[in-house]
Amino acid sequence: MLKAKGWEVLISPHNRVLTKDELTQMGKGYDAVLSQLTDKIDGSVVDGWGPSASSRQAVKIIANYAVGYDNLNVKEIAERGVMMTNTPDVLTETVAEHTFALILAIAHRIAESDKFSRAGKYHGWEPELLLGTDVSRKTLGVIGLGRIGSRVAHHAVKGFDMNVMYHDLKRNDAFEKEFGAVYKEKLEDLLSEADFISIHVPLLPATRHLINSERLRLMKPTAYLVNTSRGPIVDEIALRDALKTGIIKGAAIDVWENEPNLTPGLTDLENIVITPHTASATEETRQKMGEVAAKNIIEALEGRMPPNFIKV
Ligand code: DGY
Repeated sequence: MLKAKGWEVLISPHNRVLTKDELTQMGKGYDAVLSQLTDKIDGSVVDGWGPSASSRQAVKIIANYAVGYDNLNVKEIAERGVMMTNTPDVLTETVAEHTFALILAIAHRIAESDKFSRAGKYHGWEPELLLGTDVSRKTLGVIGLGRIGSRVAHHAVKGFDMNVMYHDLKRNDAFEKEFGAVYKEKLEDLLSEADFISIHVPLLPATRHLINSERLRLMKPTAYLVNTSRGPIVDEIALRDALKTGIIKGAAIDVWENEPNLTPGLTDLENIVITPHTASATEETRQKMGEVAAKNIIEALEGRMPPNFIKV
């Protein structure tokens, strides 16, 4: 889309996360940057980009190829007059599906059973072999009732007759009515009552380690934690310890606290399912995310308001 405009497009030659220096070098002289969630961009990176080819101004837009944008220091970037956009909506359905895949996988011990089968350990049917937990009619606690959180709640209610409770800064009466959902003003109440807890909040200073060891202790020993939002929202050492000591029954995480590194000891545990930040990784959705990011750049560089402008 960008090349079709006749614009010069520089694509990173590295199939890995760029260093700050590389990131600074790559943006120099360009009008727009299409960033990934691994590109940490702050005021000093923007300053390093300097003037663009067509004007005295630096880069005019950073189009983040993700709905989350905790990799951008929005305050410092906005202060420099650079627009920012993200890719909401197009990945909602895919992430909600992946969240449910994780809920089902941990409850039905899918990854463990797969490993067991491949290892040739199945020697015949047994009544108590790899017993899991039913999902239907249990209670799902949703932390953060945004687009993805509400779609997960929809699947829980419509697909599995689950009861839904949610915690959010705002109450949503229409949602409560439609899904019979119960609002929990206090996160602690949701944690102590739900059977499955799914996290859907952005990473902000206030949500870092939102789930820590004290809060894990509030969960039922039969409960499961699922995280498809951002890794640092869960204290991963506390999670490992809670899983190891039976404080909670299981967990499924798509996002890790220090990607691409996992807290030591986590992979030794059978009661966790781990995917590598691939909740939005379907061919259809990644294609759409690219198109949305490119469209945002086109709109901004042609002088129109990009559809997914991030207000600071
Ligand atoms: C996002 O968009 O924020 C996801 O984490 C990556 O797909």
